[in-house]
Amino acid sequence: MKKLVITAAVALMGLAPALSSATPQQDLKEFREYYLKRFPGVKLQEFADGIYGIDKGRREEFEAMMEFPPYEPGLDLGKQLFAKYNVGKCFKNGGIGIRQNYPWFDAKSGTVHTLEGDIMACLKKNGVDLNAEKIKFGAGGKLAVLSAYMGYTSRGKKLNVVIPNDPRALAIYNRGKHHFYAKRGQLNMACADCHMYHSGQMARANLISPALGHPTHFPAYRKNNELTGDPVMGGFVTLEARYASCNKQVRAKPFKPQSDEYIALEYFETYMSNGIKVNAPGVRE
Ligand code: HEC
Repeated sequence: MKKLVITAAVALMGLAPALSSATPQQDLKEFREYYLKRFPGVKLQEFADGIYGIDKGRREEFEAMMEFPPYEPGLDLGKQLFAKYNVGKCFKNGGIGIRQNYPWFDAKSGTVHTLEGDIMACLKKNGVDLNAEKIKFGAGGKLAVLSAYMGYTSRGKKLNVVIPNDPRALAIYNRGKHHFYAKRGQLNMACADCHMYHSGQMARANLISPALGHPTHFPAYRKNNELTGDPVMGGFVTLEARYASCNKQVRAKPFKPQSDEYIALEYFETYMSNGIKVNAPGVRE
């Protein structure tokens, strides 16, 4: 019995940040300070560029990729689809320059909305035939292209996710926070193990990015990505698709797109990056 208690106490220590009763504001302050201290000389906005923001050598690679941004044909398509499906009709300011406010807590339904979730709801409302148009949640495709276009129109605006003092919003936030710090999968690793405690270090051949700034540049455009085999759309990856690949990396079963779990994680992760400017779509290898 005694042994069990000790084990439980040790397990709890590992989860300490997730279980502490700090307010989101306190969490944000600590989270940001952690990275600014870990990467001296890197400015807050530079965290929007992931590994390219923290490593000078990799930065040159990034600048070379950005000479001819590979996402441009995709953004043109995104703009066309945005008009074709009348997406602007469903959003404030015609859907332009609003990405920074996502995800948001809807006090009426007590749920958190992601941008992709609201785009999908809009398409349904506008009577778009989702099957015929091959639009679905998940990795890439048209939904990611639409979201990337809307993110692009928000470039330069600071992330401004609001966690109202409503127990329902706080419960979702805490669920996301728990996901971030809790160990999972056969490798028994948390997001925080890689993207906090080992950020800036190598995991096999990969330099690991800091979690601070993660959501600013999503959907991202991954050059090596052949998700759909489509050269225009194929590279775009939503944040939750990225979450799924990272879950798989530690051999954990990924959650479904738009599951409560991923929405909560996105709510937490994006709030932690408040104050950093949107730069979607970010280019990655
Ligand atoms: C075993 C280590 C590991 C774990 C655990 C892990 N990741 Fe990753 N993650 C990586 C690597 C490696 C990459 C690709 C290099 C990079 O950009 O960090 C990556 C990339 C990402 C990116 C894209 C970064 C960018 O700049 O485009 C996001 C977002 C992300 N991870 C979130 C998460 C979240 C959330 C979790 C927990 C569910 C998680 N990761 C768990 C290793 C990990």
